[in-house]
Amino acid sequence: MKTRSLLVLLASAALFSNALMAQKFEGLALTPPMGWNSWNKFGCNVDEHMIRGIADAMAGSGMKAAGYTYLVIDDCWHGGRDSNGFIYPNHDRFPSGMKALGEYIHSKGLKFGIYSCAGSKTCGGHPGSRGHEYQDALMYAQWGVDYLKYDWCNTAGLNSVGAYTTMRDALHAAGKPIVFSICEWGDTQPWGWAKDIGHLWRTTGDIANVFDGSVSHGTWSSLGVMTIVEMRKDIRQHSGPGHWNDPDMLEVGNGMTVHEDRAHFSLWCMMAAPLIAGNDLRTMTSDTRALLTNTDVIAIDQDSLGIQGYRYVSNDSIEVWVKPLRGADWAVCFLNRSVTPRPVKFDWSAHIITDTVSHRTFDAHAGEYTVRDLWKRQDLGTTATPITARLAPHDVLMVRLTRQ
Ligand code: GLA
Repeated sequence: MKTRSLLVLLASAALFSNALMAQKFEGLALTPPMGWNSWNKFGCNVDEHMIRGIADAMAGSGMKAAGYTYLVIDDCWHGGRDSNGFIYPNHDRFPSGMKALGEYIHSKGLKFGIYSCAGSKTCGGHPGSRGHEYQDALMYAQWGVDYLKYDWCNTAGLNSVGAYTTMRDALHAAGKPIVFSICEWGDTQPWGWAKDIGHLWRTTGDIANVFDGSVSHGTWSSLGVMTIVEMRKDIRQHSGPGHWNDPDMLEVGNGMTVHEDRAHFSLWCMMAAPLIAGNDLRTMTSDTRALLTNTDVIAIDQDSLGIQGYRYVSNDSIEVWVKPLRGADWAVCFLNRSVTPRPVKFDWSAHIITDTVSHRTFDAHAGEYTVRDLWKRQDLGTTATPITARLAPHDVLMVRLTRQ
């Protein structure tokens, strides 16, 4: 056999065996990823000056200390492709280049995230990764990227499993461990196929900064917090350590009332959702900051058992959400869905709660639990006495039950 044919054969065999061994990077998202993303607040208006400012604020405002790690630049950072097909950033907006920006983000003790799309173009009309997946993965590895959000615009005729598998394999071949965030909006039920491909997958379309209902953008609508919550009720068994349902990024600090922001954040924690802030960290109010950095509430989201909570019961506009936690603990969140204040009264001893996913049971007769208000950071006694409260419209009372 001629040397050239032998080389081609060897190269094909290497590629083939690499493809066979390709897998997602394990161990990167054992709890739901936490970070910040530019899209909800800034849309296409991204540049390195703003991103550096966000990195400073993220490191200095208590966000990093509370667990927010990934700083993700969403759509519109792109410039174009060079004559060999390699992607480069918009030089006016990112004059120092992505490697330098990644180094700055890393120097703050944070991780660097970026955005691309499985289609020929991103949703914002910039070059997508289709046909350039391996080149893009190589470039991201060179830039020190730690997290890739991968969108689903302009994908007519593409098979979602194939498209996301190709990028997973490309990332694997590039060799740099990267969290792979699948952003396919739940169109082809990724919770059924993405567990071995990505670390998180969007379950719905885009979030809007409203509590209920949706916001029309002509050809499509973005969705309020409760609209998203209502959309995917039966997929919680698919979420867990390393593979999370993602109901989209946070709108905390982007215009809802403080009560609504608190309810939104609490529900995301009850659902073990990725916590990706989407507000301007450089100018956030002390209320927003206190909300985003409440480590007692975050601990519910980040609980190592990784069980997505659920709505246990709903009565007279008060919803009761429950989430089993490691050990024998539970989180319970009472939500006032109505637009008027409402009383809460819940007699623990009148309920035996059995979760069919974790097979855990809450039974106050079998042992007492202490009750701690996670927002007020106050102990409220034990499950021996009913809990009572009055909730403002769209507000929550969120407690942790700890077995005595
Ligand atoms: C889609 C995604 C959003 C955002 C935009 C960017 O709509 O779902 O989260 O990334 O694209 O164009």
